[in-house]
Amino acid sequence: MIHIKSPQEIELMREPCRIVRETLEFVGKNIKAGMTTKEVDDLVYRYITSCGATPSSLGYEGFPASACVSVNDVVVHGIPSDDKVIVDGDIVSVDITAEKNGFNGDAARTFLIGNVSEEKRQLVKVTEECFFKALEGLRAGSPLFDIGYAVQTYAESHGYGVVRSLTGHGIGRDMHEDPGVPNYGRKGTGLRLRAGMTICIEPMINMGTWKVWQDERDGWTIRTMDGKPSAHYENTVLITEDGVEILTL
Ligand code: MF3
Ligand code: CO
Ligand code: CO
Repeated sequence: MIHIKSPQEIELMREPCRIVRETLEFVGKNIKAGMTTKEVDDLVYRYITSCGATPSSLGYEGFPASACVSVNDVVVHGIPSDDKVIVDGDIVSVDITAEKNGFNGDAARTFLIGNVSEEKRQLVKVTEECFFKALEGLRAGSPLFDIGYAVQTYAESHGYGVVRSLTGHGIGRDMHEDPGVPNYGRKGTGLRLRAGMTICIEPMINMGTWKVWQDERDGWTIRTMDGKPSAHYENTVLITEDGVEILTL
């Protein structure tokens, strides 16, 4: 079921969304080679809780941490670990969701660590651009799959693979609400967006094949099938009558 948010509910959502943005800024200032992904998670936990918010991922379907920290060929849902050290040249996606006022905000950034190769930099840049391509012309009345069409067209024009098995989503009182928001699709199709919908648009773009696999050892980690790197960029977006408002930026 799709929950259209009232103006009052949107006001309540602004705070968790702001906290998510600030947390990611804080991570961006502090993340560096030599840290473990668990240390990144500690930063996230401390920042979110210091704001009086709750990390929604912690305990979500058994997920054991406050952040998903996904390095290089890990697409999403990387579990922070004391054994995983971030090294120079890595790209690290940090995806966090915070709850406050009974509502959630959800966003992800892919950080460049030190000396990153030109081809990885390009992947991260194009992944961010995919998000903004999706917003072009988006407003109440737009067909849902125009989002995926925009992301897919732009990513594939760079020779990249678009992850199919994971999608964006509605968000509000729950971290994941309807509708699913795929990063692929046919222009002009799908339900029509409505003012007051809040959705997460989150391109997951692979340098090589779009195919991914889930590590059955931990039940979470999603990796690229060919071992090539993947990038992720996400924001919580409010649909309005005449456009969109990005709540986590
Ligand atoms: N934040 C993720 C998303 O964008 C979901 C995290 S799943 C969890 O949808 F289990 F790690 F919480
Ligand atoms: Co997320
Ligand atoms: Co999300």
